Amino acid sequence: MKSNPSDLPAELAGLLERSQARLGPLSAVQWFSEVASTNDVAASLPEGAVVLADRQTAGRGRRGHAWFSPPGSGLYASVVLAPGRAADPLRATLLLTLAAGVALAEGIDAVSGLRVDLKWPNDLYVSRRKLAGILAEASGEHVVLGFGINTSVASYPPDLHERVTSIESALGRSIDRYPVFVETLAALSRRYDDLLLGRFDAILDAWRRRAPSAVGARVGRTVNGVVETGVTAGIDDNGGLLVRMGDRVERIVSGELEWL
Ligand code: BTN
Repeated sequence: MKSNPSDLPAELAGLLERSQARLGPLSAVQWFSEVASTNDVAASLPEGAVVLADRQTAGRGRRGHAWFSPPGSGLYASVVLAPGRAADPLRATLLLTLAAGVALAEGIDAVSGLRVDLKWPNDLYVSRRKLAGILAEASGEHVVLGFGINTSVASYPPDLHERVTSIESALGRSIDRYPVFVETLAALSRRYDDLLLGRFDAILDAWRRRAPSAVGARVGRTVNGVVETGVTAGIDDNGGLLVRMGDRVERIVSGELEWL
């Protein structure tokens, strides 16, 4: 079953209307009660399109994981961006998911006051439990930036319960999902502007401030069956994670890293 933009829930439509000036190019929101994956729906839409679903039947996470997407428990959304039209397209593309992580943290913070930790490359944690994740996928000249934010975990299976959290569990009270969504979109719009206009230091500074584990945390990775461990030493200006391993510093660009 599928809805269309005219079926936006009334509360969401009102909030979007009142926030239009802050949403910049991200104001064309399509709402669906159910989709396989919002990233798939967004893949055929133009820059600035936003897809939000109440439920996903085949929500995807990074590295082949599924993203559990039950109705009423989270925000499952995708926005279509075009970093290729930035003043510096390469750096804008490299820093896109870091910018998105900052924006999600800012949106959640603005509504709930929750202080969310960013974990490289783009996970959002509260007290070592995952609150939200980002999946960026290339689609022609565009990037489909998908994000999932857990708002309540009441119906999650027990194994997930131990590893994830939600805004409601972290706050200890109920919250309304739609203001979180709208503030996150507004923050994404601001950070997208930073990317397009080359304000990369603003993004990097904000990311570093919200990412305590990017410095001094023990991490490991498996290379040819051998586990190498190291200690994080910050991110460089292109978003790569620096890890001190013995007497050398490695630059890690893919997420195949375990946090110990
Ligand atoms: C991760 O942390 O592994 C990334 C999770 C991304 C989940 C979101 S939910 C909306 C969008 N549609 C998807 O199928 N995935 C992303």
